[in-house]
Amino acid sequence: MTNLPAGYRAAINWQSVPASVSELFSISAPGKVPVYHHNDQFVQKTSEHYRFNKDQLRGLLAYLFSASKGDALLVHGPFGAGKTSMIREVLGRLKWPTLMLSWSEKSDSFELIGRQGIQFGDTVFEYGPLALAAKLGLVLVINEIDRGRAGDLVALNDVLDGGNLVIKETGEVIEPHANFRVICTANSAGSGDLTGQYVGSVRRLDPAFLDRFAMIRVGYMEQSDELDLLMLQFPDYARKSSHFLTKLTSFAMETRSKAVDVAEPLSNPISTRALMRTLNLGRSMGLLRRIGESDFSVKEDLLPALDLSYLNRLSADEREAAVTVLDLNMG
Ligand SMILES: Nc1ncnc2c1ncn2[C@@H]1O[C@H](COP(=O)(O)OP(=O)(O)OP(=O)(O)O)[C@@H](O)[C@H]1O
Ligand SMILES: [Mg+2]
Repeated sequence: MTNLPAGYRAAINWQSVPASVSELFSISAPGKVPVYHHNDQFVQKTSEHYRFNKDQLRGLLAYLFSASKGDALLVHGPFGAGKTSMIREVLGRLKWPTLMLSWSEKSDSFELIGRQGIQFGDTVFEYGPLALAAKLGLVLVINEIDRGRAGDLVALNDVLDGGNLVIKETGEVIEPHANFRVICTANSAGSGDLTGQYVGSVRRLDPAFLDRFAMIRVGYMEQSDELDLLMLQFPDYARKSSHFLTKLTSFAMETRSKAVDVAEPLSNPISTRALMRTLNLGRSMGLLRRIGESDFSVKEDLLPALDLSYLNRLSADEREAAVTVLDLNMG
């Protein structure tokens, strides 16, 4: 006996309507793409504030709509730069049913394919996300594949080779659906950590495994794009002082350029995620209220929120280097 998890339908409604890329993603680009019928249990939630990068979007759409059997996509880049959210925003807007999971040290191939369980005294096989996605035509998104043990992703190899997925426990042979896709994210392009930022957590991926992937790099945004994003997402700060947001993005840029320079003591840059967290925390810590006042002080008014969102994670030396960058940019 095999079991789909509760609430999962055995088939997806693949009806679609064409939509213009420029309207769907608020970006100037030609062409149309299909938007699927709303299969709500699998469709990712989107945010109207998301800002797409044209080249990254082009690569992702090319993979989704032209991948041949067995192709997979690796989206790699530094932490908090927007890898997972870009994938979620694109798939959510296309209403392409998706299963998303994170890979970790403890993950194994049973987690992907499925396992035998007992239900009302009967042995049943419960499909894992890989089996379900292959069967139903979903996009399987595996975040942080470089966090697991080498070899535990081998379950993917059969389908990445364009073959069928065989469920050993039941003998079922799943021929992947035409709409099945595999997208993985990682902090490195597979070569392991060359920067020292991810000590002990990022692993080298097998080159033969990597050869099965098309690749997109998602780096931190350009300063002008990041500023536009903050202005859009934090209209209260933007009204108060767009100059403050500009200086904050300059600070972020500098931490990032220092982090890639091995001669600099700062190896952890501030991510887009942490930047947004600073502003959210700052709102409840009095920062927003104090911006623009004549006695505004970086130390008194901004540091408490920045400590919580970013600086407290750094070593004493790194923190000092980051605060120097802050003083130079915000002072
Ligand atoms: N282009 C963007 N538009 C809007 N928000 C963005 C953008 N890029 C990143 N963000 C925001 O930054 C945060 C971090 O993004 P996300 O989780 O996608 O990063 P990531 O690259 O997957 O990070 P990690 O490697 O840590 O998993 C999210 O809150 C996301 O909404
Ligand atoms: Mg992510």
